[in-house]
Amino acid sequence: MWDPALYGRYADHRSRPFLELIARIDATDPALVYDLGCGPGELTAALATRWPHARIVGIDNDPAMLELAHSHTCERVRFQTGDLSSFLPPRDADVVVSNAAYHWVESNVEQLRRIAGRLPRGGWLAVQVPGNFEAPSHRILRAVLDEPVWQRRTGGVRVPESPVLDAAGYGDLFSTEGLQVDTWETTYNQVLAGPDAVLQWVRGTTLRPALGRLDESHRHELIETLRPILREAYPAGPAGTPFPFRRIFAVGHRPARSG
Ligand SMILES: C[S@@+](CC[C@H](N)C(=O)[O-])C[C@H]1O[C@@H](n2cnc3c(N)ncnc32)[C@H](O)[C@@H]1O
Repeated sequence: MWDPALYGRYADHRSRPFLELIARIDATDPALVYDLGCGPGELTAALATRWPHARIVGIDNDPAMLELAHSHTCERVRFQTGDLSSFLPPRDADVVVSNAAYHWVESNVEQLRRIAGRLPRGGWLAVQVPGNFEAPSHRILRAVLDEPVWQRRTGGVRVPESPVLDAAGYGDLFSTEGLQVDTWETTYNQVLAGPDAVLQWVRGTTLRPALGRLDESHRHELIETLRPILREAYPAGPAGTPFPFRRIFAVGHRPARSG
């Protein structure tokens, strides 16, 4: 289970890429919009403001996230359980958005290819995934979790090598399915507030699968093992802890029939 409160601690840093992603969707009046891996639903609900006539559907498979998301349910916004490793939006969904979710899906390339392939004429597919699998934070987590003691205790949880493509890779993928593409990547020089901020950040995301497999005392031990290593890798500065974060963006559009 995700911890929406921990995840939401850095909501501003997490929402910015979403807003920059949807800014590149040039749909004027879509009827049906899907948000895949919608999390706590606040950003999903923002799509209803952006497109005031659209029905918006958020999809996620985490009960804690969905519980929070349901508080944003209204006439035009609803949330459903779905697993992104197999879920396909209906063929009449004219905008499909996904922010910071498909890197959790091993088969993300094949799934996104299928979604791109079914996009209707005039449709838009906009995806953002983190591109930080080789950042010091991930290398550290990978090295520690790969130690035999943690492999044994977590039942084999690992931080994977990058499961995502680069921006050009998603561009090629979408082009092959007949979409016009707009891809880019950005490294946000995030400055995080609070003590041990990078540890707090990864506790809310990358470290979550391992922590979920441990009992209380081993969870504590893992966190205390990581604390000094992450502190040294990401020293706090006068304004907070700089935590550069690379993100990959891909927007595809199937042109409407001409004439
Ligand atoms: C980092 S959060 C992003 C949430 C939201 N899109 C945002 O931008 O704040 C990742 C979300 O993806 C969801 N997720 C991960 N794997 C999934 C899967 N296989 N099926 C459905 N949702 C998944 C998680 O439950 C989580 O809510």
